[in-house]
Amino acid sequence: MQMYAVCLYPFINIAGTTGPGIGSVDSGWCRAKSVFSANPAFFGVFMFIYLDNAATSFPKPESVYRAVDHALRNVGASPGRGGYRRGLDATRLVFEAREALAELFGIRDSSRTVFTASATEALNLAVSGLLRPGDHAITTIAEHNSVARPLRLAESRGVEVTCLDCDRSGLLRPADLAHAIRKNTRLIVLSHCSNVTGAIQPIGEIGALAAKAGIPFLVDAAQSAGVIPINVEDLGVTLLAAPGHKGLLGPQGTGFLYLAEGIDPLPLMVGGTGTHSTDAEQPLEMPARYESGTLNVPGIAGLKAGVEFIRETGIETIRRKESLLVANLLEGLARIPGITLHGPPVGRERGGIVSFTLKGMDPAFIGFSLDRDYDIAVRVGLHCSPGTHRAIGTYPEGTVRVSPGYFNAPDDIEKLIAAVGEIAGRNA
Ligand SMILES: Cc1ncc(COP(=O)(O)O)c(C=O)c1O
Repeated sequence: MQMYAVCLYPFINIAGTTGPGIGSVDSGWCRAKSVFSANPAFFGVFMFIYLDNAATSFPKPESVYRAVDHALRNVGASPGRGGYRRGLDATRLVFEAREALAELFGIRDSSRTVFTASATEALNLAVSGLLRPGDHAITTIAEHNSVARPLRLAESRGVEVTCLDCDRSGLLRPADLAHAIRKNTRLIVLSHCSNVTGAIQPIGEIGALAAKAGIPFLVDAAQSAGVIPINVEDLGVTLLAAPGHKGLLGPQGTGFLYLAEGIDPLPLMVGGTGTHSTDAEQPLEMPARYESGTLNVPGIAGLKAGVEFIRETGIETIRRKESLLVANLLEGLARIPGITLHGPPVGRERGGIVSFTLKGMDPAFIGFSLDRDYDIAVRVGLHCSPGTHRAIGTYPEGTVRVSPGYFNAPDDIEKLIAAVGEIAGRNA
């Protein structure tokens, strides 16, 4: 998606400093037009290309902006608090958002879906709430810090953690997982899709192993929710943590945790739920047990609109489009001398993420140059996942990560490839 923005400030500046003066707008405009044709960037007209959808999706569908605006202007009230009509509107909106998520992920009872501020909060709730001293948890070496750090905290409180190796794509071998299971294993947790390599873990196979052993299986769906179809029942996923602001196309500050029936971690927070006000203890009923404090209604309204957009468009359509953009990206980048593409081999299934390095060039410089010289936004570095870089051999510099989204056009990918080619050429 290219963004065209006209900045009036340089126009006035040009008219005022190089022309006959600010009063002479017409002749200033003519002069400015010729400056613009020669060098659009100089005039402040830019074609911004956003390729960092793995961090947060941008832009959002129009309906998302409208839903946030509507919630702020026309709903206004808190959900689950007031019995008046606006309060009930807010409660209904939150309920409908929960139902929309439940439908998308094959969740039978939407009350088992808890809203959070991010995937990170959802992961913390699951990990901290489930693990006790003496328990054992299994994960991989290639996790985002939002999984790795809560596990490290749990370790400091007496939990044992096994980190399984991954291959150079970032994939684990399910047989290793089977061997790692112990009598006291209380959690298996890993990301569905790597935020560095785009590798997709075989969560169905892992879910079957976990179900057979009766171990809760927590999937970090930060890079797959809304982009890769997930049915929690079919895949044996008993806990699903996801952000609302990436593939689900909602606003930042949203996320959720799904907990299967019978999985009841300790809450991360307790406090006002709008219910059972005479009780000193946190209510046990779902979802209030895990939703203390006033919910982010505008964010949840936007998330609902994002999920509805996905349903109307079709998740398969979204996946097909992103896969095509990724295939073009891999093919084009592969032609650039000195480039290394990390992650699954071309032709193998992967998410909407491509990481690369250029021989002899710091990824940070490439990202800086893409931003400054081409107005292309990508992410560089370790992407909060140092273990993945150790596994794929890109620690500590990291990679350049390109993550197209549904609203990118093939032309955005071509421009990125051309820009990287030029940057590589400068170094040759
Ligand atoms: C794999 C993975 N897990 C967790 C997160 C954290 O998501 P959030 O920023 O919503 O907390 C991210 C974000 O980039 C991620 O890529």
